[in-house]
Amino acid sequence: KILLRPDMAKIKGIMLSKFSCENWEKIWSFQAHPDDLLIATYPKAGTTWIQEIVDMIIHGGDIEMCQRAPIILRQPFIEHHSTLMPSGLKLAEAMPPPRILKTHLPVQLVPPSFWEKDCKIIYIARNAKDSLVSYYHFQRMNKMLPDPGTWQEYFEKFLAGEVPWGPWHDHVKGWWKAKERQRILYLFYEDMKADLAREIQKVMKFLEKDLREEVIEKIIRHTSFQAMKENPMTNYTFLPSIDHSISPFIRKGIVGDWKTHFTVLQNERFDEDYRKKMMGTSLTFCNEL
Ligand code: PPS
Repeated sequence: KILLRPDMAKIKGIMLSKFSCENWEKIWSFQAHPDDLLIATYPKAGTTWIQEIVDMIIHGGDIEMCQRAPIILRQPFIEHHSTLMPSGLKLAEAMPPPRILKTHLPVQLVPPSFWEKDCKIIYIARNAKDSLVSYYHFQRMNKMLPDPGTWQEYFEKFLAGEVPWGPWHDHVKGWWKAKERQRILYLFYEDMKADLAREIQKVMKFLEKDLREEVIEKIIRHTSFQAMKENPMTNYTFLPSIDHSISPFIRKGIVGDWKTHFTVLQNERFDEDYRKKMMGTSLTFCNEL
């Protein structure tokens, strides 16, 4: 049960685990295949949700197929290094293309071969306030990441971008800009909550897959919050670094949980900082303020 939280370090100003930094050359020179699909997100944006949806789409709604292994083994997390399991790189290299790969890297740190091979990428963004709340609970439960400290302390760290994978604002804006030049499907967690069938259609179109109505309905049922919470292949009970007694990985899955965490003062401070950092971008979030 006792796990020491690993040290963090920085690559080009972005906080990553020391393991990732020590293996940075290998990560940076990762060789993507033109048929690989990359799922990129800032942490806690709904990564696992879209990962399961994509696996279901690719396998034509075959649930048994999607139960073949925990999500982290089905879709390697390329910069993930820990002593508890094979690295994301090793898992990816052992897998024949077309692979589905996961990353939380900001756009400027994505291995160049993904651009050179013109891989398709799905990016999901989630509004900043709920991302902050979800990330706080994740750092509490996940002993592979730094201890978040108190809620107030974490709030300040998040605004300063002193969290793993760096600042939220630059991440979502950087990927938004990259979409002008790359094959990126940019989705929003809030849109998925509002109309999952519509968002699944977007993913199908992007992946050039056609599925019958009843298969889409099956995918919606299989990737519901409750189904994914109960599914041992998606709920992260397979990862020993996560202490589910502190908080479950699939925790609340709602829009607006920030309202139960932010004080009035914190909200004002957040909004002021947000306006400055998001000024001039065409990227907007449904419930950002
Ligand atoms: S990670 O660690 O970055 O890969 O985490 P990630 O999967 O991106 O985000 C976890 C949050 O997504 C919520 N989640 C879902 N919401 C709605 N429906 C489904 N099916 C679903 N699956 C996961 C999960 O509960 C985390 O959000 P919070 O707000 O903490 O509940």
